[in-house]
Amino acid sequence: MSRRPIAAGNWKMHLTSAAARALARGLRQGLPPDGPEVVVFPSFPLLPAVADELAGSPVGWGGQDLSRELWGARTGEVSPLQLTDAGCRWVLVGHSERRHGHGEDDALVAGKLAAALGAGLAPILCLGETRQERRAGRTWEVLGGQLDAAVEAAAGQQLTVAYEPVWAIGTGDTATPEQAQEAHAFLRRRLEERAGRAAAAASRILYGGSVKPDNAAELFARQDLDGFLVGGASLDAVSFLAIIAACGGRAAESGGSP
Ligand code: PGA
Repeated sequence: MSRRPIAAGNWKMHLTSAAARALARGLRQGLPPDGPEVVVFPSFPLLPAVADELAGSPVGWGGQDLSRELWGARTGEVSPLQLTDAGCRWVLVGHSERRHGHGEDDALVAGKLAAALGAGLAPILCLGETRQERRAGRTWEVLGGQLDAAVEAAAGQQLTVAYEPVWAIGTGDTATPEQAQEAHAFLRRRLEERAGRAAAAASRILYGGSVKPDNAAELFARQDLDGFLVGGASLDAVSFLAIIAACGGRAAESGGSP
């Protein structure tokens, strides 16, 4: 089964609305024909400016996080319904900077995932092992546990997964194509066990962690890698467009639904 690749840009807590507009415009203007699905994740206050620039273009946008509740007295949180109201189709869930910097555990991530799906958002479930866990030989146990909790919360709905080894995020220390493929193949097998063969074959598994224009093509050549979640290199239109171009080879054969 062919899966349409995704190139996603996680802009984290960077940019002002003017800079985000310029970046969105640069992407829109430079998109290759028949490329991967492209999505950007600006911080919440930038969403209206980005939506304004990208409306009517093939580039989608989403939130970097969400609340597991729909409404209420939850200072600082953003409702899934506020994201859909801002035109978001996508949302990141369980990014390592949330799991490790803000103490989000599998139960909270599962709640957020269910809330996203319930609101009609397409979540990208982020997971990955720390360097310490890899060194201790616990990589598969960690990835398996993170994935199982999410699959249960998704209750049969399709997931997009981003494998982001924590030791590779923002460090310049990218996983080798072999390490990435090994983890992606593990995740696809696990999805097959937990959600069935069809769901596993249809699910897109992205790689994230120091993806750059000069390592994207080699990583993307791996069978179970369906695109990228890019941090630093997505903040510059030229470098993100080069990564988008590297995901071009097997694009657009299947539908773009998550
Ligand atoms: P990076 O970030 O590309 O800057 O390593 C990836 C991510 O955090 O999603």
